[in-house]
Amino acid sequence: MTSLPKLTKQVMTGAAFCCTLWLAGCAQQQPAPVVNLIPKPVNLTLGEGYFRTDSASICDGAENIRYVINPDMAGEEAYRLTVTKNGIEAQAATETGLFYARQTLLQLLQSGGVPCVTIEDSPRFGYRGLHLDVSRHFFPKEEVMKLIDVMAYYKLNRLHFHLTDAGGWRIQIDKYPKLTQEAAFRTESDWRKWWDGGDRKYLPEGTEGAYGGYYTKADIREIVAHAAEKHITVIPEIEFPGHSDEVFQAYPELCCAGKPYSGGDFCIGNEKSYRFMEDVLTEIMELFPSEYIHIGGDEATKAEWKTCPKCQALMRREGMKSVDELQSYMIHHADQFITSKGRKLIGWDEILQGGLAPNAAVMSWRGEEAGFRSVRMGHNVVMTPGNYMYLDFYQAFPNTQPYAIGGYTPIKKVYSYNPIPKDSLTAKEEKHFMGVQGNTWTEYIPTPEHLEYMMFPRALAVAEIGWTPQDLRSWEDFKPRVNAHIPVLHRKGINAFTLSNEIDITMSVDTLKKQISVFMDAEKHPAEIHYTTDGSEPTQASPIYKDAVIVTDSADIRAAIFKDGQMQGEPTVKRVDYHRGINKPIHYYNRLYPGYMAGGMNALLDGYRGSLTYLDGRWQGYLDNLDCVIDMGEITDLHKVSSRWMQLTGPGVYQPTEVELLTSEDGKTFTSRGTMPTTISQDDSRLLFQEYTFWGEWKARYVKVKAKNPKGFIFVDEIVIW
Ligand code: ACM
Repeated sequence: MTSLPKLTKQVMTGAAFCCTLWLAGCAQQQPAPVVNLIPKPVNLTLGEGYFRTDSASICDGAENIRYVINPDMAGEEAYRLTVTKNGIEAQAATETGLFYARQTLLQLLQSGGVPCVTIEDSPRFGYRGLHLDVSRHFFPKEEVMKLIDVMAYYKLNRLHFHLTDAGGWRIQIDKYPKLTQEAAFRTESDWRKWWDGGDRKYLPEGTEGAYGGYYTKADIREIVAHAAEKHITVIPEIEFPGHSDEVFQAYPELCCAGKPYSGGDFCIGNEKSYRFMEDVLTEIMELFPSEYIHIGGDEATKAEWKTCPKCQALMRREGMKSVDELQSYMIHHADQFITSKGRKLIGWDEILQGGLAPNAAVMSWRGEEAGFRSVRMGHNVVMTPGNYMYLDFYQAFPNTQPYAIGGYTPIKKVYSYNPIPKDSLTAKEEKHFMGVQGNTWTEYIPTPEHLEYMMFPRALAVAEIGWTPQDLRSWEDFKPRVNAHIPVLHRKGINAFTLSNEIDITMSVDTLKKQISVFMDAEKHPAEIHYTTDGSEPTQASPIYKDAVIVTDSADIRAAIFKDGQMQGEPTVKRVDYHRGINKPIHYYNRLYPGYMAGGMNALLDGYRGSLTYLDGRWQGYLDNLDCVIDMGEITDLHKVSSRWMQLTGPGVYQPTEVELLTSEDGKTFTSRGTMPTTISQDDSRLLFQEYTFWGEWKARYVKVKAKNPKGFIFVDEIVIW
């Protein structure tokens, strides 16, 4: 076969165009081929017509359907696919490559058969993973295998199985039978009652009404074998040294206090902890052939280690200066043990603390920095930064969604993630990026249906990030394809989220033209967006969004998707002001909270308003009071100063008790222009906003805004000055 030209983005978009031309040029009895592959292949050329077949013959092979091992092809997972009207030929160097050719064929198959196509394809990364927490809530093996099937369809190839945590121990271990007898069941299913509410007790297996479960060794073998058939490696995770509260219900001697409910960290100074680790990992390695074995490593509190005589004695003996080194000591031990068995250790990025073990790979979850640091030190990494890759975070505005752990990772945000940003690393360092993973922690995800709702379709974005070259990826191109896959997922029995009706309203501020361009986008496709700019409810008769809406002073934008004349969901609301404070210098007398800067020091004067979540990167948050001064550059006639604040008491976000405005001509003597108390009760747990607006006629160069913090976080999106 001749090599195919690499298609550019334009040419790929042109694939649909070409087939329209083809249809116009021939008898139109066949439906137009629809190619919606996820992940998008590296090279695709659409031909004319179809090869008539069905899914059974694609899977089992048939006359004219050939799967050929070609050892000359490069890449363990690469494949080449040629579909003509007369037949199908798939070539690959390995069975895995042929398996992926088959998945592509299954995705291509439609009522007319398989469209004629040539594809050359191979993944960007060798590690394309999903993580599943079965400790906080236990999911039956049938659900795990169902997820494995869907993963394979999207060419995901690693299932990171989070088997142990405070929620319950989930895997039979022969040498420590009490792990499942005593620590796999609990009093409550509901995490908010059980863990957050403090009514925390484990119950022995067999206790009536106890909630939980575990996988027997036979279950695990079945899962691992099923995954292997689907070319998926299951990576087991056993948590050390933190997140192990449940272990101490069964074996209390392994924690510093020697009793359950006293903490979640193993005692590092106790020899028995190492015997336990080796014994458990030995049984784990017998069950899981995975090259990598995950040993946790995240979020140890290290609290008891500071006073535990055994831990303190170890620190003295080894000359350790901090408890971080205790953690590192245990991880080094695990690294040696796992390496001695011919396997490799992987752990969450806290394993960097106190010194990274020599052979360890790192899962970067607390942002990306730990990943970059690790590859620079020559270690392999899997990138799974929380702000992009946590599928337990909200995928739409929280007030429209089932309760979630927090966070905000709508699919567009997930899809925007590029694990290797341009020019930041050398080619040698880039080789250490094994790939990407989406994580689903299940504290607030009690059922298989809810699990699928959180994972899908966001997992499809993860799949494409892991497979498709960065320069072939764009949200505009992915959007119609992911929409087309929602019914596909539903047909597979996956309870996928049907994507949000919200309008993603973004802005670009032009300080030269003194205007703001407002852009609207939706996850749904196609989406007919109607909007108003005067705060009125949009209707079918309101303008349809096509190009940027230009705002030179103020607009109250309301926008919604309309389908068959009906508004879908609630309108998305955004206030836009090209106000006089935009881009003026601001000085803070209070401390900014690094995690909630909203983009930087001028975030309060950048024209950007926040949305309905404080996690959208537009709300600036403080644990202190706000106390800031804005310099208008010259003495100015001012009429109105306002600021909008959020309250959401669940995560500890409160209205300021009061907001004060002061003005000054010289920056030294300030005159108070009023103080406005909040009208919102701290006991009100709803998502609430209050705008504090001061009207007047003031001559001033300096505008000072102060807000009193009652007790938690306070969040403001913009100070608007007219
Ligand atoms: C984690 O989210 N604790 C790895």
